Amino acid sequence: MNRLIAFLYLWLFALNGIALDLPDHLKSAENLYRTAGGYGCHLCHGLYGHGANQAGGYIRGANQEILKTALIEQPTMKLLNNVLSDKDMELIANYLIYLGEIPIVSLTVDNMAIGIEVDERRDSEKALQLVLFNAGFSEVTLDLSALGLNTLTIAAQATESLIWSPNSQSEIFDPQVINILP
Ligand code: HEC
Repeated sequence: MNRLIAFLYLWLFALNGIALDLPDHLKSAENLYRTAGGYGCHLCHGLYGHGANQAGGYIRGANQEILKTALIEQPTMKLLNNVLSDKDMELIANYLIYLGEIPIVSLTVDNMAIGIEVDERRDSEKALQLVLFNAGFSEVTLDLSALGLNTLTIAAQATESLIWSPNSQSEIFDPQVINILP
């Protein structure tokens, strides 16, 4: 019986690491975000609008007004202004607003070191989106057990995303709890 409880406990914990569960009506928006103009917004704003050290920076939470202004004023975005309809812009803005509700913690694994960037708006009650980027040229495996998550293997130059609903988020500030496995 104890074993069963322990098993269920682990299983429930493992469930905490789930993919971003986008509502159906935003799936086409995500697709548009990743394909607009043939290259996608993520080229300059990161796969999840979190900037990812790209030229365009963080845009989670941006509304249609802000998006329209950027499409007119940003020299690098003007091409996109011609290929997106008003409906497309509304769809993408809804997607960005949805992402803006989710605090994000981004981790970059580079040369066996982990860099971490924590959303200032994060509060201890809310689920977080963990975005993990492997900046190296070989795959890495991370031990996320201190966060109650399964081991995660990330291919070279790939980004993974998990939604994390912790009991206590204090560990997340300390990259030491995440170990890179040999
Ligand atoms: C070629 C690079 C590039 C691409 C592609 C691109 N952007 Fe941008 N974007 C920028 C730059 C540069 C800025 C200005 C950033 C700054 O001012 O710090 C910007 C600004 C923005 C802003 C305004 C941010 C703010 O706070 O004012 C929004 C919103 C935005 N982009 C959304 C998008 C969306 C949505 C797409 C895809 C349809 C997209 N961008 C594609 C480069 C790009």
